[in-house]
Amino acid sequence: MEVIPCQTKQEASRMAARFMLNQVANNKYSVLGLATGGTPLLLYEEFIKMVSSKDVDLESITTFNLDEYVGLAPNHKASYSFYMNKHFFEPLGLNEDQCFVPNGVAHDIPKECERYEDLILEKGPIDLQVLGIGRDGHIGFNEPGSSLVSSTRIKTLTEETQKDNAQFFDSNESVPKHVITMGIRTILSAKRIVLLAFGEAKADAVAKMVEGPVSASLPASVLQMHSSVKVIVDEGAASKLNKLDYYKEVFANKPTWQRKEFL
Ligand code: PGA
Repeated sequence: MEVIPCQTKQEASRMAARFMLNQVANNKYSVLGLATGGTPLLLYEEFIKMVSSKDVDLESITTFNLDEYVGLAPNHKASYSFYMNKHFFEPLGLNEDQCFVPNGVAHDIPKECERYEDLILEKGPIDLQVLGIGRDGHIGFNEPGSSLVSSTRIKTLTEETQKDNAQFFDSNESVPKHVITMGIRTILSAKRIVLLAFGEAKADAVAKMVEGPVSASLPASVLQMHSSVKVIVDEGAASKLNKLDYYKEVFANKPTWQRKEFL
């Protein structure tokens, strides 16, 4: 795990965007794994700006989203399909047939989960997976207690996650309890992973993920078992890391050839 402490979320998001840009510029058939929520918004904004200024061809990329609410159709404003169309697919001019989000209104949810997992196997592996982290340490919507070898399936959100996500819903609506999410094994099968975390509210989860034991009680800790993970954090999210000075020193003293992937 490589922890990259940044001062602000703007700086962190620009860095992640450059990393994603390099991925698609070096391989026009890249498969991206994408996240939703508040965290990746600036990353997507920066990425869109970079793509238009550098004229990068995205015609042959494929994208897979981590999750979707059960019961929300793509035209529902709080669905992740809607979010992705608005913040990523449409601004980049991506076609429907290259962007995949689980279908939250599928008639047969277990079958939909199986179909989605099979699609990732068929079109993957995912070259670069973007992740956020929940305050309870979830990745995707793999809540505490999730099997560390799980594949795409239905999960029930914790009360904490439902409360955190209520901001994306109209006040008179409640957050769905059920979601379809890529499993932990699905996420771990990506070649490279970039996890972003911002703000002090995430500091505990980040510290446990990076420096705590690997445990299903904090699903993100399983990323310690993946060979290529970058954890890009702002000052707030980094504030409880014991070895913060060391992570800063490592990044500041990177050999030039290693820096290239961020330029
Ligand atoms: P957030 O959610 O980006 O809205 O904080 C992160 C997550 O739940 O993974």
